Amino acid sequence: MLCSLRILILGMLVLGPAGSVDIQVPDDPVVALFGRDAVLHCSFLPDTDFSLAELSLIWQLTDTKRVVHSFAGGQDQLADQGSGYANRTALFYDELPRGNVSLLLRQVQISDEGSFTCFVRVRDYSSAAVTLQVAASYSKPNLNLEPNKNLKPGDLVTVTCHTFHGYPEATVLWRDGQGNNITENVTTSQVANEEGRFDVQSVLRVVLEPNSTYSCLVRNPVLQQETHASVTITGQHLTFPAVALWVTVGLAVCILGLLGALAYVCRKKIRQSCKEEDENGGMEEQDENSEGPKTALQPLKSAENKEGNEQEID
Ligand SMILES: *[C@@H]1O[C@H](CO)[C@@H](O)[C@H](O)[C@H]1NC(C)=O
Ligand SMILES: *[C@@H]1O[C@H](CO)[C@@H](O)[C@H](O)[C@H]1NC(C)=O
Ligand SMILES: *[C@@H]1O[C@H](CO)[C@@H](O)[C@H](O)[C@H]1NC(C)=O
Ligand SMILES: *[C@@H]1O[C@H](CO)[C@@H](O)[C@H](O)[C@H]1NC(C)=O
Ligand SMILES: *[C@@H]1O[C@H](CO)[C@@H](O)[C@H](O)[C@H]1NC(C)=O
Repeated sequence: MLCSLRILILGMLVLGPAGSVDIQVPDDPVVALFGRDAVLHCSFLPDTDFSLAELSLIWQLTDTKRVVHSFAGGQDQLADQGSGYANRTALFYDELPRGNVSLLLRQVQISDEGSFTCFVRVRDYSSAAVTLQVAASYSKPNLNLEPNKNLKPGDLVTVTCHTFHGYPEATVLWRDGQGNNITENVTTSQVANEEGRFDVQSVLRVVLEPNSTYSCLVRNPVLQQETHASVTITGQHLTFPAVALWVTVGLAVCILGLLGALAYVCRKKIRQSCKEEDENGGMEEQDENSEGPKTALQPLKSAENKEGNEQEID
């Protein structure tokens, strides 16, 4: 019955004169966020004696004529609804008596983007199209520097900017610290994932200057949203990377430790010399050079090999 009704309606559209039902739809595309619900507005001004039983309504895709939702005889007629729309559509049933035949489309997908025709028949008929534009925000970009160690002014580096899950394609712009457009040596690729949202990668190749800032600006042309990230490479970072800093600190600690040990040994040696001077008179002056090692080794040897030790001194 519905099929014949549709054929009748379509037949009237093709053959008949323009209907007198005055349908109101938005002129501008309806922007819907991916995954959210969208309302496709469509309404007409019913006669005062309008009864809902008289209304036949078909929401269909403008190009393929696939049925998105239909209503006739006072109830939904979903037998020949396109499979992708099952459980995703509803009318505002309280609004129908007022001629408001807007369609609720749940969980908007990228593939929903396009033109929908709102087809209304009461006694006369008419139709009008609503365009649905789907959009998704881009994530805040993350930046990677390659190489990212031991950077020096004059090095060629690549700065990579990643941003995810946006729609439609992004406009990517690079700026330096002064706000200049440096989008010259940039390669940007936009790859759609299985849902149709884009993952964007933009690569900037640049010769490093001291104290430079590189900003990646990602703009969603439909949402007029901009998100950005920047990396600043300071002069200090360039000449004194973190690793070098810690190596230097480590070396400094080692040297201080060695100096301390040396001072300790020297002081001990001086004390030892004084003692020896008391015991042996002027003897130590003869072998000043071999005195240090002997003294330092003494504690070990005195325990094990006192005889040998004494021989060495002589
Ligand atoms: C729609 O909902 C019905 C009832 O909850 C369920 O049986 C059916 O599988 C759903 N269809 C889809 C395509 O999700
Ligand atoms: C139709 O109903 C929808 C949902 O309640 C509402 O947003 C819209 O403003 C209504 N349109 C008119 C013309 O009243
Ligand atoms: C920035 O530069 C690129 C490449 O030179 C150009 O395509 C783009 O239009 C410029 N954008 C702005 C905002 O100046
Ligand atoms: C782009 O690359 C060319 C050649 O590698 C270089 O001469 C030019 O200065 C670069 N432009 C920018 C803005 O870095
Ligand atoms: C980098 O910037 C800092 C602070 O803005 C400044 O003190 C320093 O001199 C700059 N170094 C170079 C190499 O321009």
